[in-house]
Amino acid sequence: MDTDVRHRISAILLAVALSAVLVPPPPVSAAVLPYQDPSLPVATRVNDLMSRMTLDEKLGQMTQAERGSVTAADITTYRLGSILSGGGSAPTPNTATSWADMYDGFQNAALATPLAIPMIYGVDAVHGHNNVVGATIFPHNIGLGATGDPALIQQIGRAVAEEVSGTGIDWNFAPCLCVARNDRWGRTYESFGETPDIASSMTAAITGLQGGTLGGPASVLATAKHYLGDGGTTGGDDQGDTQLGEAQLRAIHLPPFQAAVQRGVGSVMVSYSSWNGVKLHGHQYLITTLLKGELGFTGFVVSDWNGIDQIDGRSGFTAGEVSAAINAGIDMVMVPTAWKTFLTSLRAEVQNGHITTSRVDDANRRILTKKFELGLFERPLTDRAYTPTVGIAAHRALARQAVARSQVLLKNAGGVLPLARDGGKIFVAGKNADDIGHQSGGWTISWQGGSGNITPGTTILQGIRAAVGPTTTVTYHQRGTGIDGTYRAAIAVVGETPYAEGQGDRTGSMSLDRDDLRAIDTLRKAGVPVIVVLVSGRPLDIAANLPAWNALLAAWLPGTEGGGVADVLFGAVPPTGKTPMTWMNSVSQQPINAGDGQTPLFAQGFGLTY
Ligand code: GLC
Repeated sequence: MDTDVRHRISAILLAVALSAVLVPPPPVSAAVLPYQDPSLPVATRVNDLMSRMTLDEKLGQMTQAERGSVTAADITTYRLGSILSGGGSAPTPNTATSWADMYDGFQNAALATPLAIPMIYGVDAVHGHNNVVGATIFPHNIGLGATGDPALIQQIGRAVAEEVSGTGIDWNFAPCLCVARNDRWGRTYESFGETPDIASSMTAAITGLQGGTLGGPASVLATAKHYLGDGGTTGGDDQGDTQLGEAQLRAIHLPPFQAAVQRGVGSVMVSYSSWNGVKLHGHQYLITTLLKGELGFTGFVVSDWNGIDQIDGRSGFTAGEVSAAINAGIDMVMVPTAWKTFLTSLRAEVQNGHITTSRVDDANRRILTKKFELGLFERPLTDRAYTPTVGIAAHRALARQAVARSQVLLKNAGGVLPLARDGGKIFVAGKNADDIGHQSGGWTISWQGGSGNITPGTTILQGIRAAVGPTTTVTYHQRGTGIDGTYRAAIAVVGETPYAEGQGDRTGSMSLDRDDLRAIDTLRKAGVPVIVVLVSGRPLDIAANLPAWNALLAAWLPGTEGGGVADVLFGAVPPTGKTPMTWMNSVSQQPINAGDGQTPLFAQGFGLTY
């Protein structure tokens, strides 16, 4: 071989040797399996993942346990696919950072399983991230319905999504799309209004929470709840029986869920209630045929808290109820504490053929699709960039705007409102004037809500004090003690104290309580104009008292930003709210709704302005 060829061969060998040294070999990272490859279509990733899953891993995905009943080790051992915080279930200390740390702890336990399938964590952030101390608490839905502004509700959804994301949480059991038909119902305030059109428009909250498409910045899976007819039970009995023909059920209660499905809502929660005596949690026609079939819902269906226990009317759940619920179309079961028993029962029901593997696969496909679309496989841990958004001024300003827009002015005799900012003395009374807990209502820090300074915010009284000028004196006494004729006006902030769900059902009187009536009477006897501000989760029976009042403002349940009520009282923001509920003339009229032929005190859609 001549010299020249030899030289060229050695040059080539040298180049090969150098390239091996200068261009490192591809990283020896874990083999990227198809389900781990975000460049592949979600359906491909789901199919690949499911082909690798054992039956136990699939059953774990269908099981949701409460944070207080599991350890991180349990999540790994039992392959649990979801955790929730029930109302008020929070880490200690209850701060945004400790929530994020808790979430990451549970998530890392899920990622420690062989296939590293991330868990999804659900909370009820129904009017802000309301389990978290320091979070912005927005008006409850009944007040948001009074705004008539879906764009505002979408903005609120976005703000809530940022605060929820900042604590790691990726799934919100909201919005409630219930159409409350009887104001006796303890969940009336979770309804946007008594007719489906309002709730349908307010599904804008879903877009706020999820973003345009799932998986974007601070995208949180939304839940349309409670399917179907929860607000239509006879007597407003929570978890009761909705006795309607199918045409009426579809006309009144279905449209908001159709709108939610069209908006791409990721999950639907089943109602505790029954339809003509059959519990929704076992209702295959409504869940599978109607919701998944006719409406084309492709997300996943979650039960309510121990909801499957109610199918047979007896406490606890049986194997029969487990298979009834899954075969009805429920994909994930919220079994807060008895999740081990549930898993055992579910496995037995699959192994004995009562639940088919195709049903198990359908449930998993739905759940895993949402987890992939949310980006949980790529970004399983808290995005700490959002943690500082919890309770930020911009969100509180948005909440204050929503509070002002939700106020409904029902009476304004002699144009007593708006009050002048400057000069003289104003008296404030009532148990709801200086109480963050009362003005926030249920689902705030604790499940049932509470009294006093339960979380940072501005009470209505503090809002009034901040609204008046330096020459005005504001005096407060809950019972009105000390008022006299030298005051130019008196404001009585009265109404309901917090409640949630069935504990808020009112089967008897719907009037103001004696303390409120006494306080108002004390103010009236001083001979000064009396403005009543009603802080309540629903219309109350006040027709007999109204003639003695100069003005009436329905404030609903405003949340932490009580300054928004003062904005309307002093004219910084004119009242534009319209009542989303027909207002009874008498409690004997319940249920009373638009078009039912009864004569209300105020019709749905009524609201004064100035
Ligand atoms: C409750 C409610 C439901 C809530 C769930 C989890 O009982 O009915 O609205 O999302 O349990 O807290």
